[in-house]
Amino acid sequence: MLIVEGLDVRYGGITALRGVSVRVDEGETVLLVGANGAGKSSLINAVIGTVPSVAGFVRFQGRDLGGMTVDRRARAGIGYSPEGRRVFASMSVLDNVLAGAFGVGRQRQREAWDWLCSVFPILAERQAQPAGQLSGGQQQIVAFARAMASFPPLLLLDEPFLGLAPVWIKNISDAIRALQARGTTILMTEQMARPALKLATRGYVMRGGEVRREGPVGVIRDVALAEEYL
Ligand SMILES: Nc1ncnc2c1ncn2[C@@H]1O[C@H](COP(=O)(O)OP(=O)(O)OP(=O)(O)O)[C@@H](O)[C@H]1O
Ligand SMILES: [Mg+2]
Repeated sequence: MLIVEGLDVRYGGITALRGVSVRVDEGETVLLVGANGAGKSSLINAVIGTVPSVAGFVRFQGRDLGGMTVDRRARAGIGYSPEGRRVFASMSVLDNVLAGAFGVGRQRQREAWDWLCSVFPILAERQAQPAGQLSGGQQQIVAFARAMASFPPLLLLDEPFLGLAPVWIKNISDAIRALQARGTTILMTEQMARPALKLATRGYVMRGGEVRREGPVGVIRDVALAEEYL
């Protein structure tokens, strides 16, 4: 479904990714683990199109994404939940979530909202409240729900657990399982390998802008956990 091949990303003189190749097949949940600065977000951002690559290519459902705008990539079916649980602070929870339900009719928006509320009751309880007033875990739920609101076939989650209390990690994990049950394909990054390894089928261990190991979760588990403490 997603093929990243030989990707190089640079920020001025800093090389963030060097020759990175990652594949995500339909129905899989693939994990990118690695310490601070490993290049996880750079890879995600190159896929959504907010960061340019200087070499390599990204292909989604057989289409080369090179030269496609961020907006067109989103409409092609790539959902994205950013690192640091960014929400529109002064907008209501409902409007935050519906901002992600672009390009679908009111009926589909309604269905998406109802389904998301069934997975996250907090959304219904806080729907009229400005998102900026919520706790960190609640804001992560809003960001996650926004990414899901258009039911993208491919969902990119950048550190969905970062800084969250165990109860919210469990909540987000349950939601990811609900998405997996719907057939959503997921590529997620995490520094916190432990809870993420429970959700993924395959993973890549990154360090210094390169992929160091890859394989089924059972095979990379020990390397991934060691990386967590670097
Ligand atoms: N906008 C930027 N300008 C300059 N350098 C950047 C920029 N964004 C990232 N970098 C650098 O690129 C490298 C990879 O960063 P990236 O954010 O992709 O890593 P990461 O694995 O997502 O890290 P983290 O776990 O902290 O989110 C790092 O050396 C980082 O300092
Ligand atoms: Mg990052």
